[in-house]
Amino acid sequence: MPSSERSPLLLGIDLGTSRTMVLSNRGARATVRSVVGYPKDIIGVKLMHQTYMIGEDALKRQSYLNIHYPLEDGVLKDANDQASEAAKLLIKHAISLANPQPGDQIYGVLGVPARASMFNKNQLLKITQELLDLSMVVSEPFMAAYAIDQLNNAIMIDIGAGTVDICAMMGTIPGMNEQVTVMKAGNYIDLLLENLIRETHPNVQMTNNLARKIKEQYAFVGPTKEEIMVNLRVAGKPVSINLTREIQTACEAIVSEIVEHLQTLISVFDPEDQEEALQNIFLTGGGSRIRGIEDMIASNMKDFGTVVVRQVPDPDFCGGMGALKLAMELPPQYWEQVGHVSKSDK
Ligand SMILES: Nc1ncnc2c1ncn2[C@@H]1O[C@H](COP(=O)(O)OP(=O)(O)OP(=O)(O)O)[C@@H](O)[C@H]1O
Ligand SMILES: [Mg+2]
Repeated sequence: MPSSERSPLLLGIDLGTSRTMVLSNRGARATVRSVVGYPKDIIGVKLMHQTYMIGEDALKRQSYLNIHYPLEDGVLKDANDQASEAAKLLIKHAISLANPQPGDQIYGVLGVPARASMFNKNQLLKITQELLDLSMVVSEPFMAAYAIDQLNNAIMIDIGAGTVDICAMMGTIPGMNEQVTVMKAGNYIDLLLENLIRETHPNVQMTNNLARKIKEQYAFVGPTKEEIMVNLRVAGKPVSINLTREIQTACEAIVSEIVEHLQTLISVFDPEDQEEALQNIFLTGGGSRIRGIEDMIASNMKDFGTVVVRQVPDPDFCGGMGALKLAMELPPQYWEQVGHVSKSDK
């Protein structure tokens, strides 16, 4: 079909500190680590046959690349040229994963953290203006809530790498009073776990990346029936080590602040709506996979009556799915009423 007759390629993009997700109306669904690597010197350029590398490929080549994370705690790092260049390469790569065809019009909805400043949103739109025909940035918790049709009397808790974002959904785009950000999230657990393992097993070889992998495989909070034995290395030799307590302590370390903020946030709802909101608490983001975390949050809220905490289906892609759903359901002429919009200067 000639490109002029094809309907636009619609994208939902969730830009995260650790991972970026992209989904399209033609069925694409892809994820990339939010990392850009540049060669340290000319040898690196020769080894790679290119001047930069994105995602897991860059992480694997850390020895000869300078690694940049364009997003820090979920927002674009300061506005210097290199940071925005890295962000642009990352977004460009994410778009390419949706396999656009020559001549396609591309419209994208991008999720940004609810607390991203106006400046930050404009920075992002300046980048997308060069890459997309039409783009809109919207708040991430709103997107996740939109994905699961929970726009009123509900609470979204997005447990990411850099931050946990807690957001009260009250039938409108959430304002500043309706959301809280907690800085202790997945990265914090990794660091704590790494340090705990170093303390209790000083001979074990431990890195932050290894601690994260162990967490992603075994994370849990609350009671456990079985001990967690992990194969690690001491002076190069494999040993099996019991890490049950370390994993539990590190994962539980983020729960109390989440509960504290949840307890405060509930009062923004009308008293008559609080009961319903407390039964509509949804966890999303990679950290929502910590086993037992729903029950632990709910049991810490028992003074508030019946509290129901659930994980959204497909927590990795929930934000991106909401963004795509919005792009598909909302005619472009209304985008400006929902988010901040930029049109191509191509
Ligand atoms: N099975 C798992 N158990 C516990 N944590 C996990 C699991 N899988 C992924 N994670 C953690 O979830 C985090 C990534 O989640 P997510 O992709 O939602 O974050 P992000 O969107 O990149 O970050 P942010 O929202 O802070 O910008 C990482 O810290 C990762 O280690
Ligand atoms: Mg996120």
